[in-house]
Amino acid sequence: MKHMLAREAKLIESQRLAIQADIDTGKSAAERNRLGQFATPNALTADIARYVESILGPAKRGIRFADPAIGSGSFFSAALTVFGARRINSAVGVELDPAFADAARTLWSSAGLDVVQGDFTRIVANDICPSAPNVILANPPYVRHHHLSRDDKERLQALTLKMTGIDVSGLAGLYVYFLLLATAWMEDDGIAAWLIPSEFMDVNYGAALKRFLANRVTLIRAHRFDPDDVQFGDALVSSVVLVFRKTQPAADHAVEFTFGGTLAEPHVRDVVPRERLRESRKWTVYPSHAKNDRRTLSDSNGPTLGDFFRVQRGIATGCNKFFVLDRANAKVIGLPDKYLRPILPSPRYLKTTSVDTDADGYPILDTQLCVIDCDLPEPMVEARYPVLWEYLQTAQSLGIMDGYLISKRCPWYKQEQREPAPFLCTYMGRGADDKQPFRFIWNRSKAIGTNLYLMLYPQNRLATMLRKYPDRAKTVHVLLGQITGYELRGEGRIYGGGLNKIEPSELARISANSFVEHWPEIELDVRPQGTLFG
Ligand SMILES: C[S@@+](CC[C@H](N)C(=O)[O-])C[C@H]1O[C@@H](n2cnc3c(N)ncnc32)[C@H](O)[C@@H]1O
Repeated sequence: MKHMLAREAKLIESQRLAIQADIDTGKSAAERNRLGQFATPNALTADIARYVESILGPAKRGIRFADPAIGSGSFFSAALTVFGARRINSAVGVELDPAFADAARTLWSSAGLDVVQGDFTRIVANDICPSAPNVILANPPYVRHHHLSRDDKERLQALTLKMTGIDVSGLAGLYVYFLLLATAWMEDDGIAAWLIPSEFMDVNYGAALKRFLANRVTLIRAHRFDPDDVQFGDALVSSVVLVFRKTQPAADHAVEFTFGGTLAEPHVRDVVPRERLRESRKWTVYPSHAKNDRRTLSDSNGPTLGDFFRVQRGIATGCNKFFVLDRANAKVIGLPDKYLRPILPSPRYLKTTSVDTDADGYPILDTQLCVIDCDLPEPMVEARYPVLWEYLQTAQSLGIMDGYLISKRCPWYKQEQREPAPFLCTYMGRGADDKQPFRFIWNRSKAIGTNLYLMLYPQNRLATMLRKYPDRAKTVHVLLGQITGYELRGEGRIYGGGLNKIEPSELARISANSFVEHWPEIELDVRPQGTLFG
């Protein structure tokens, strides 16, 4: 590697920052999203390089560096500063975008960086693939799966299966393929550090990657940043740094999990045996510490909300602007009552957690809303309800007819069928510490909710009890309100900037111990089989 003084490297780094900012401002947000173009701050790449250096130790000489998504070279810059040019035998960066590839080449070729312009996921499968690195530092493009074409996804899945034996879910983002393919490329015993979204740690599509990290490489460290402290001003994701060695893990291996603060000075840490990781559905609960926003208190053996509520998402209309109307307006227009259903306003506009009903089943709120829901075929609507027919015709000019949901429905103005639910939970929200990120609504009206709500229908013995003692619904609402923010965040998922979301199956997994403590008679008869013979 050409010898470069630290002073020179520093100078080039300041030029890099200027060029990076130039390229960034010349691109639209959509363009940057498409290629996952969010540069890593230099302080973070330096932190990552220093941590990797601490693992390499002084004995390891001859680094062969690679970054499969080099951008303007933030990681290479850090590698030069931290490892020193003398120690780097070779360095290669792959970059799809010619603007970044050219920039990286101009900036760093004098320091020995070899820049290959092209799609890493194709290059890695090719004979011309540069020789295997032994150190990879990377922040791959986060491109979400719905921005990958079907062909591309199939190609990536087939290639990853061939190169690693791992069957990646079609819901995985591009970064999952990057990590797996680059690890296949890396030399055995090499060290890799990846800055990736932490979402995979909790969701189903991340299962294959978690298995890979627990079984196929030796995961040394997983540091998750506090989502309230967004690393990239403009990328709304929370991220984790994974550092691993490409070698089979020892049976008794344990992984260091840290959270918050910086990689060098995390707020909390914990050492988690690999065996436990293999059985853990969610990895963001580690390190298990009060400061971790995701530590879960749910008791996996006890009763859960799913035992007492059927949880279902509210309806997706395909276009609320068109289908959801102010009830008063619908009356002025003359839309037939029969095909209008009461619906709650979006959580943003619902200021209360307790909704009363008027005589028609509409919520007593300043603005009452209704949703058009009609199952009559078009000719009948035209013949019998000309006003509704006329209103429906306006959908054409709004250009909503080609939308996925609407084009699949028959007739296209018939909504998913939901009964009103006595309890609802908002689907997204914020909240730290004990504050609930989601609100539970007690609904006495006949209104349903849109998909910004989860609808909770009492079932099993709770439903029987409520039929007998309807007044107890109030206490049910109180108990739902007492579920802690920790539990809700622990089961849900978190996005950058502290936005939380919870899916029906996640809400169903929350402990319902307090319900059984309050009303022991509602406990289910059927206990897990193993306990029957205890
Ligand atoms: C998140 S950025 C990271 C850039 C740089 N490594 C850093 O840390 O600042 C990801 C980079 O990958 C590039 N990229 C996107 N798709 C790629 C692909 N298929 N092959 C190689 N590079 C790609 C983007 O243009 C972008 O520069």
